[in-house]
Amino acid sequence: MATIESVLTETRVFQPSEAFVKQANVSGMEAYQALCREAEQDYQEFWARRAREYVSWHKPFTRVLDESNAPFFRWFDDGELNVSYNCLDRHLASRGEKTAIIFETDDGQVSRLTYRELYVEVCRFANGLKSLGVAKGDRVVIYMPMGPQAVIAMQACARIGAIHSVVFGGFSAKSLHERVIDAGAKVIVTADEGLRGGKAVRLKDAVDEALGLGGCDTVEKVVVLRRTGNAIAWNGARDVWWHALIEGQPESCEPVWVNAEDPLFILYTSGSTGKPKGVQHAAGGYLLGAILSMLWVFDYKDSDIYWCTADVGWITGHTYVAYGPLALGATILVFEGVPTHPHPGRFWELIQKHKVTTFYTAPTAIRSLIKLGADLPKQYDLSSLRLLGTVGEPINPEAWMWYHEVVGQSRCPIVDTWWQTETGSNMIAPLPGAIPTKPGSCTLPLPGIAADIVDEHGHAVPQGQGGFLVIKRPFPSQLRTLWGDPARFKKAYFPEDIAGGKYYLAGDSAHRDQDGYFWIMGRIDDVLNVSGHRLGTMEIESALVAHPLVAEAAVVGKPHEIKGEAIVAFVVLRGARPAGEEAKQIVAELREWVGKEIGPIAKPDEIRFGDNLPKTRSGKIMRRLLRAIAKGEEITQDVSTLENPAILDQLREVV
Ligand code: PRX
Repeated sequence: MATIESVLTETRVFQPSEAFVKQANVSGMEAYQALCREAEQDYQEFWARRAREYVSWHKPFTRVLDESNAPFFRWFDDGELNVSYNCLDRHLASRGEKTAIIFETDDGQVSRLTYRELYVEVCRFANGLKSLGVAKGDRVVIYMPMGPQAVIAMQACARIGAIHSVVFGGFSAKSLHERVIDAGAKVIVTADEGLRGGKAVRLKDAVDEALGLGGCDTVEKVVVLRRTGNAIAWNGARDVWWHALIEGQPESCEPVWVNAEDPLFILYTSGSTGKPKGVQHAAGGYLLGAILSMLWVFDYKDSDIYWCTADVGWITGHTYVAYGPLALGATILVFEGVPTHPHPGRFWELIQKHKVTTFYTAPTAIRSLIKLGADLPKQYDLSSLRLLGTVGEPINPEAWMWYHEVVGQSRCPIVDTWWQTETGSNMIAPLPGAIPTKPGSCTLPLPGIAADIVDEHGHAVPQGQGGFLVIKRPFPSQLRTLWGDPARFKKAYFPEDIAGGKYYLAGDSAHRDQDGYFWIMGRIDDVLNVSGHRLGTMEIESALVAHPLVAEAAVVGKPHEIKGEAIVAFVVLRGARPAGEEAKQIVAELREWVGKEIGPIAKPDEIRFGDNLPKTRSGKIMRRLLRAIAKGEEITQDVSTLENPAILDQLREVV
């Protein structure tokens, strides 16, 4: 990949400015190293001390880490707390009138909620959910547009101990259906429509369609937020308006105290099989990870206006919109729309208008904004910014430099944060007042995070050599299991052949440079990263073969200038290999089909047809070969085991 090649030659180092270091929560390299040493000296006490300091416990814990049933680790497991209490109630006395959420809609309307107002909204909605029979441990699927109500719905679930499972509004009815069934949801919370870039997204229709597919017998009610007011179908026995549900509900709702290990949420993500994984997080450890990373990596201060651009449908939107900042009493900006609507300067305009201090976005957004107007940020006053962040995929040094110079005006440190749905919060990232940065590197692990790079047996690799990224010790914010599938959890994340199943295997490859800095190289499994969205090749393949015309399909990624990776599908039809106009038509049809099966983000960028796929004599699809073909590379690998070498020429042909 171009990214990897360019980062390998990257030698620039950026020291944090003296002014930044002076005011930083972790100030100077020595302070960082002292934290790391503290964690090494007494690992459990390191986390326990911070859990006591930053989390409000209803019943304090006496046990820190229970490893007796590894890898099903338990943290703080005799403690009781409520995450919503930590995000709302505990701020009321000191900052009840502080703005919690600044919300800007797609069409530019701005509204605000103070902590007290947010508290009231969460309580009313929590009471509403209770009136529908939702109780502790019940699952609630949230399929909503980005907005304060999505956060309110999440917080309301947390308040009553219900487990939410947010499904990104860009996923199709089919994807929603699969997740609703897997989670056994009792209630779905949605909206009539979402609004993005001036276009309506028919969310309620998708819910109706999902439920119409059958098998969702656990679902009793669908709560519908009126967002656009356009007409929708209505099932009087099942559907309830959000506004009707909260009408007359009391403005307070006693938090349900849960065990630290009780699940806070499930979030589905892609793995190497066709079935998404329900990543399950625990209330106590997750909250601690969110809080500490806000303080350490985002150098959070009470005066910040914090803007993480992620949708709450992704882990980034969970940890750095819905939970982390609120747990610290931050003012956050929530934006409904897209970076480019109604003009390509929208993000910069938002930063200027709301005096954003901390801006956290994905490399794919940065690259597309460069393309739309590399000089555009200069037309806006971005002097409020003090810290920039990126997440979700490797950032190429060119994009990093632009972000640094043009957006951050060479003043703001950049935190390139490596982490995953499974890790719950940042794992490897610079503490901006301590760790010098290098464009393209996520730098060093957070204090207490035992990240390392190992070979296939779990032995550390020499510096500079690539290997598997692992985390060698349990940490509070890690996933606890996969919902309903503990065996898959164990196999996917703690495989026996690597150090006897003792290490958390992240699924990424990485190498380390002479300063110990981590450089992420990409996934080691069949997972693609398209515009920072994680997609399984198998999921896309299953969607394609579900089409009546398709006999077989193989999906690979290829480097893409803006998206990071593009999706290339190699397809064998049941009938003859199509050509010309017919091929074009089938491509369009299959792309639409995948959009309906999974969601528009999964539509292949390219589809190529062959009479067959390249396979070994034992029948395995030669994916490495397909990746080379997709990239247009010379084939240097041994194709002697290939049963049908002639099809390679067919697969080189772009429709
Ligand atoms: O491959 C890594 C990439 O995104 C994967 C995790 O995806 P997801 O669970 O959807 O979470 C994304 C947001 C946390 C990782 O396995 N990734 C994430 N952050 C980075 C990254 N790759 C390189 N650099 C990063 N900063």
